[in-house]
Amino acid sequence: MTIDLTGKVVAVTGASRGIGAAIAEAFAHAGASVACMATSEANAAKTRDAIVAAGGKAAAFAVNVADEDSVKAAFTAAESELGPIAILVNNAGITRDGLMMRMKSDDWDSVLAVNLKGAYLCTQAVMKSMMKARWGRIINISSVIGQHGAAGQANYAASKAGLLGLTMSTAKELGSRGITCNAIAPGFIETDMTHDLGEDFKTYVQNTAPAGRLGTPEDIAAPVLFLASEPASYITGQTLTVDGGLFL
Ligand SMILES: NC(=O)c1ccc[n+]([C@@H]2O[C@H](COP(=O)([O-])OP(=O)(O)OC[C@H]3O[C@@H](n4cnc5c(N)ncnc54)[C@H](OP(=O)(O)O)[C@@H]3O)[C@@H](O)[C@H]2O)c1
Repeated sequence: MTIDLTGKVVAVTGASRGIGAAIAEAFAHAGASVACMATSEANAAKTRDAIVAAGGKAAAFAVNVADEDSVKAAFTAAESELGPIAILVNNAGITRDGLMMRMKSDDWDSVLAVNLKGAYLCTQAVMKSMMKARWGRIINISSVIGQHGAAGQANYAASKAGLLGLTMSTAKELGSRGITCNAIAPGFIETDMTHDLGEDFKTYVQNTAPAGRLGTPEDIAAPVLFLASEPASYITGQTLTVDGGLFL
């Protein structure tokens, strides 16, 4: 199935590297205009430049997804440069790992603010134009850790589990307007975020997951693209686990 998103504008948060960069590039390849968002314009520009060099359409914007004013400013700028946003991918995320016994409340707050409040703020920022168009796609990047928990990641697990509740509520609020909202729960994907996990853990994943390997950012970009497509219009409020079968 070829997915053609020519004429659609997509906003991808956390688009500077890793999973977000692969998602942004996949959308550009499918013909969409991509608002690449990251914590600085220079970071976002790396993906924009790669897309433009490959013949696609993209623009770069700085945003702190945890900050309401920053989100409003970034999405206003993106819509005035590229047009109304039809597809939103809430991908920006951070970790501040530590056992709960020693976890600082700042580490709890910052992870919840970026990973969960950020998705709420960005969703709110695009809702109006999607409702007006009576078409929209929102895809939240959760995690298998949000489905299963992990020692040392209480803040991250809570934020990613919270995203699943946000996904279902968004689907229920916006479904009658032709807008779907779904979540992807990636397993262990080779990016900066998992760089320091250690060889023992990587070997464990390779030996345990039926797929026999860690995931790539492109493994996540492909189902995101599908959920954003027209043929996925009857799928909403769902979580798709993409982990090579690790948690089976
Ligand atoms: N890698 C995995 O194994 C894995 C597994 C499950 C779920 N995930 C989720 O997938 C998403 C992407 O992960 P990744 O591995 O690609 O991460 P990554 O390589 O660490 O990249 C994180 C991205 O988020 C952006 N970001 C961080 N804080 C932000 C903020 N306050 N406002 C706006 N953007 C912000 C970063 O921008 P800058 O470059 O400007 O800092 C960067 O683009 C995250 O939500 C993560 O939790 C990852």
